[in-house]
Amino acid sequence: MRFCELTGGRGSCRAVWSRAFVVEKRLGGSLALPITDAPQQFGRASPAGLSNDWAWGKMATPAAIRRVCGTPRRGRFPRTSVYESLAVPTDELQQIVCCFGQPVAGNPTQYMMEKAFAKAGLDWRYLTLEVPPEALVDAVAGLKAMGFRGGNLTIPHKVAVIPLLSRLTPAAEMMQAVNCMLREGNDLVGENTDGKGFVQSLREVLDPAGKKVVLLGAGGAARAVGIETALAGAAQFTVVNRNIERGETLAKLIQEKTNVPTTFVPWQGDYAPPADTDVLINCTSIGLNDPSGRVPVDFAAVPQTCVAADVVFNPAETQFLKAAKARGCKTLDGLGMLVNQGAIAFKQWTGVEPDTTVMRDAVEEFLEA
Ligand SMILES: NC(=O)c1ccc[n+]([C@@H]2O[C@H](COP(=O)([O-])OP(=O)(O)OC[C@H]3O[C@@H](n4cnc5c(N)ncnc54)[C@H](OP(=O)(O)O)[C@@H]3O)[C@@H](O)[C@H]2O)c1
Repeated sequence: MRFCELTGGRGSCRAVWSRAFVVEKRLGGSLALPITDAPQQFGRASPAGLSNDWAWGKMATPAAIRRVCGTPRRGRFPRTSVYESLAVPTDELQQIVCCFGQPVAGNPTQYMMEKAFAKAGLDWRYLTLEVPPEALVDAVAGLKAMGFRGGNLTIPHKVAVIPLLSRLTPAAEMMQAVNCMLREGNDLVGENTDGKGFVQSLREVLDPAGKKVVLLGAGGAARAVGIETALAGAAQFTVVNRNIERGETLAKLIQEKTNVPTTFVPWQGDYAPPADTDVLINCTSIGLNDPSGRVPVDFAAVPQTCVAADVVFNPAETQFLKAAKARGCKTLDGLGMLVNQGAIAFKQWTGVEPDTTVMRDAVEEFLEA
């Protein structure tokens, strides 16, 4: 029996747990964890009697941990994907991909990807890494030096990473935003899968070809969604944004890059979309981690034939979607886009088609935890 003492905050505990599981799996031994801050972590008054219950075999599932410790007051259990990704013993080096961002704690992508790697029988790992803006140059150099197979970029790196890459795909070039790095020999190629993921999800409820689209917001997500929806054949765009300069820039970008007629409307008060709007898309960050976050739209003016889509995925059913549903519109949540953009990256990195049902289930499980 080996022992491992966990100290420190939530994140470090989780990291130590994960490492402990890996070590135990490899050594094939049993493990007991007398945890100094177990009461704080898991809401149990005393860790007494843990040594038997925490032996490796019993400890390996969240259910076993829950049985001993109760439901955690905060934080999550170690990821089951840790075991799954090690399910096939191998002498090969694991392939690594990652996500750079700040802040990135709470991002569900690692869980989603590692579940999909496991389902596909791939011994790959996905690391979520907190990278501040001033460290991005070193982080990208490190990624190349260590042979990572690629990576995702999230706020605030989607634009800043561009000069650090060898080249961009045509879509990323148009958007001037990159959410995905692809390894080609010694080169890193910048791609953007956000908009493609959105369009794939939109097509499940409506074909954007010939449709009139209103984009609420003009940030990175709006750029990706706008350009790809235009490339998918949309007939007309209205960009609505609070910051006038950003809104005008996006309207000009869509018009110039795709030749789709695009107008800009400054966002003042509750926005009333034109009566012939086919698709109304919330591309702002309003509602992110805030179930009551209200997007200022006059829903009485929204045509009931319109599809309302949200890029926000946490919560899946945002206040914007609830209001649209109450109006009688078809709705589309941001989970589909999240899963699809991840699935496109997965395929590009590994050459293998992922199981998107596993990915969606993983994200839902993560968000419910
Ligand atoms: N589902 C997915 O796969 C996926 C992928 C990418 C992003 N996302 C989500 O998309 C959202 C936007 O991300 P982003 O990268 O585009 O962020 P961003 O570049 O920071 O842009 C944020 C946008 O929201 C607008 N905004 C924020 N608060 C507002 C308010 N109170 N009133 C009016 N407008 C407001 C901003 O307007 P101003 O310009 O006026 O400040 C801007 O247009 C985030 O929630 C992100 O999680 C989802």
